[in-house]
Amino acid sequence: MLHIDILTVVPELLEGPFSHSIMKRAKEKGLLSVQTHNLRQWAINKHMQVDDYQFGGGAGMVLMCEPLANAIESLQAAGGPYDEIIYFTPDGTTYNQSTANRLSLKGRLLLICGHYKGIDERIRQQYVTLEISIGDYVLSGGELAAAVVTDSIGRLIPGVLNDETSALFDSFQDNLLAPPVYTRPADFRGMKVPDVLLSGDPKLVEDWRYEEALRRTRERRPDLLGDDPA
Ligand code: ADE
Repeated sequence: MLHIDILTVVPELLEGPFSHSIMKRAKEKGLLSVQTHNLRQWAINKHMQVDDYQFGGGAGMVLMCEPLANAIESLQAAGGPYDEIIYFTPDGTTYNQSTANRLSLKGRLLLICGHYKGIDERIRQQYVTLEISIGDYVLSGGELAAAVVTDSIGRLIPGVLNDETSALFDSFQDNLLAPPVYTRPADFRGMKVPDVLLSGDPKLVEDWRYEEALRRTRERRPDLLGDDPA
């Protein structure tokens, strides 16, 4: 069972992503629980303030220490310590499948979503154990990153996917991209499914898939094979 708390100033952004399909099933099976918390619960005054101007000047607000520290400490007091406290930021370590695999084995995670200019540096130093970027582009907040990470972790929890082996064949699990897939009809407007997939010979199919995965990876992502990018 993995429990994920998500701290955000825009909880509405996270209402949809975990209510359908695989994430919904994971929650119904009791394998994953996700709870969002509005940082404004820990606002410093009756104006619900959680952010302020940055010292030194410059545009953009910064999420303040006090609400964040109080939120983190009260969530810890209520539910116990976290295995990781994750902050989403473009200057974090780039997220990948091996981090997803590692996080899917944890029991309790706290995800902190920044907004505006981000969060006060002292919170990062004092509480955050892992800083994640989901790619070299800037989002308006960490919420979509939190959704990406929660989805990619949730589906890896044993028992979440119908066929437990299926995550093993995902792209990236062996540092290989996934091979092509086909379904009926075997002939669509003259475009035929490769004969080997219709052969009924599991060994031939397995070899073909491996070769195709290798070919596709060589073509599209040679860096995954340790080769120089094309
Ligand atoms: N917040 C803003 N941009 C982000 C990114 N690329 N990854 C993670 N969190 C972010």
